[in-house]
Amino acid sequence: MSIVVEDFHKIYDKTIAVAGLTFTVEPGEILGLVGPNGAGKTTTMRALAGILVPSRGRLTIDGHDLATDPVGAKQALAYVPDDPHLFDNLTVWEHFRFIAAAYRLSAEWTGHAELLLEQFELVEKRNEPTSTLSRGMRQKVAISCGYLHNPRVIMLDEPLTGLDPRGIRTMQESIRKRSEAGAAVMISSHLLSLVEDLCTSILVMHRGKMLLRGTLLELRQAIDASGRPESLEDLFFRLTEADPVDAATSIARGA
Ligand SMILES: Nc1ncnc2c1ncn2[C@@H]1O[C@H](COP(=O)(O)OP(=O)(O)OP(=O)(O)O)[C@@H](O)[C@H]1O
Ligand SMILES: [Mg+2]
Repeated sequence: MSIVVEDFHKIYDKTIAVAGLTFTVEPGEILGLVGPNGAGKTTTMRALAGILVPSRGRLTIDGHDLATDPVGAKQALAYVPDDPHLFDNLTVWEHFRFIAAAYRLSAEWTGHAELLLEQFELVEKRNEPTSTLSRGMRQKVAISCGYLHNPRVIMLDEPLTGLDPRGIRTMQESIRKRSEAGAAVMISSHLLSLVEDLCTSILVMHRGKMLLRGTLLELRQAIDASGRPESLEDLFFRLTEADPVDAATSIARGA
């Protein structure tokens, strides 16, 4: 398993952000993490990236336990947060050089970086300081930096927000390609139709707990009350806005 989350809890002062989350992500899987604002998605990703210490539970990335082997875990991982921080005064190419040095990449990194520049339409911006780029371009730089060391586990927090239609298509294709090459991918997004299009499995979170975890195929087999196939959006509202007792019953039924 590429990502293993066991009984993960995170409590901030008084807020219980995540309460007992358990799931795994396999190589080649693209897991869509969805849930209302405050559900605990970013908290879960930050803990898996080793930025937050869990209040309880065990997290492993590509077989490396975050608690005992954080360096091994981080070497296998790319994590791009929802508000990626770039170095304003460094150019796009200097960002790649920085990452290559930090991960001690072999000299071939330059070829890979050239491909990423092309893929994300950043060729013309390679020598520009990132402070002069648009928001979507900065997002593309952050994701390219994440891909540079060929991570086996990729976690992207809201990667599609703020991108133009071409950027969304490019991002989806890049994620598919990485997963076909064996990477485990986890993305959070509120853009449910894009999640439905891209992801192979879905995890719905609400108030720090998992409401549902299933493959997209299982989701597609779900039928609403009038006999129509249920979309991810229908399912999302049914689960997250239902009476908690109804939701628990439908989860117990496996819906
Ligand atoms: N640094 C923090 N200190 C205290 N509470 C926090 C902190 N970060 C998050 N929280 C709380 O933890 C809960 C989960 O937040 P989190 O950011 O994980 O949600 P999310 O699912 O990513 O939401 P969104 O869809 O808005 O990005 C919220 O109640 C939030 O207020
Ligand atoms: Mg978030």
